[in-house]
Amino acid sequence: MAYRDPSIPWWEITPEHLYLDRRRFMRGLALVAGSGLLAACGAGDRAQEAEAPAPGAQELEVQAQTDELGDPLNTYREITNYNNYYEFSTDKQAVAQMAREFPVRPWTVTVGGLVRNPTTFDVDDLKALFDIEERIYRLRCVEGWSMVIPWNGFPLRKLLEKVEPLPQAKYVRFEAIHAPEQMPGQRNGFFNWPYVEGLRLDEAMHDLTILATGLYGKDLPPQNGAPVRLVVPWKYGFKSIKAIVKIDLVEIQPVSLWMAAAPHEYGFYANVNPEVPHPRWSQATERRIGERGRRKTLPFNGYADQVAHLYAGMDLSKYF
Ligand code: MTE
Repeated sequence: MAYRDPSIPWWEITPEHLYLDRRRFMRGLALVAGSGLLAACGAGDRAQEAEAPAPGAQELEVQAQTDELGDPLNTYREITNYNNYYEFSTDKQAVAQMAREFPVRPWTVTVGGLVRNPTTFDVDDLKALFDIEERIYRLRCVEGWSMVIPWNGFPLRKLLEKVEPLPQAKYVRFEAIHAPEQMPGQRNGFFNWPYVEGLRLDEAMHDLTILATGLYGKDLPPQNGAPVRLVVPWKYGFKSIKAIVKIDLVEIQPVSLWMAAAPHEYGFYANVNPEVPHPRWSQATERRIGERGRRKTLPFNGYADQVAHLYAGMDLSKYF
């Protein structure tokens, strides 16, 4: 993931209005409040631009306009037009267009491995099974940029509880779709496709860890990982695998696509850490898309109070 500054200056883009079907959506708000991450403001009025929703698409009210630190949300346009999705392209600004026709239905997610109830879920059944919450999270890419994104989704924990992990299960392995006919980047032999990621079981069970099915109250667009992707906000963005088709509970630590491609640069943990530089650049600061200048990167991306205990006693420069 070589760092490349975007050619479009985002601060010059004037956001336009997003008109959402203003349906009440309080359930998720209550749940997010319970997790201590309720954003400070009420229904957002930050101007957004959105594509016309697909017929029957999920439409939920956006509840907040800042994250819990008071940082404003990135616009819909920013979030959906600056994407890392190597299955399509390494050009972040080409992904949205290239992924436009990518078929995200029918779609199943198979959850298996060391579980009592291995199950294949149709993605729409999966969405109906759990309350869909709004979670405003910062996404910090390992390349040194970040965004604030209003996701819609549900805690991964709820799905894992449904399939009942066996006592031997120590890790969760996630696999994205392999569709080289539709994903030109997968015809490039450099990576060992499909995209794979992994979490320790306790990380996967943490309340902050969600499976996202939407953003800004709309179904996820293909470029952001439709129809379902992982979001782990205290880790570098590459852990948040898109277009998941398979989730396995396993005993041995999984090898991710990035660990296989560049083991000296990308470790299993990938916790956001301003103290541990990437071998080729500092991680002390980041550029928030839409802002000038750089901000200080926060330990665990600002979620240390919630997650630092998971790594007590570990040397995080070694477990990077
Ligand atoms: N998931 C898949 N399947 N393929 C990818 O290339 N890129 C990762 C992550 N998930 C990636 C992926 C990286 S490097 C980042 S920073 C985030 O997705 C970007 O998510 P976004 O495009 O929704 O901002």
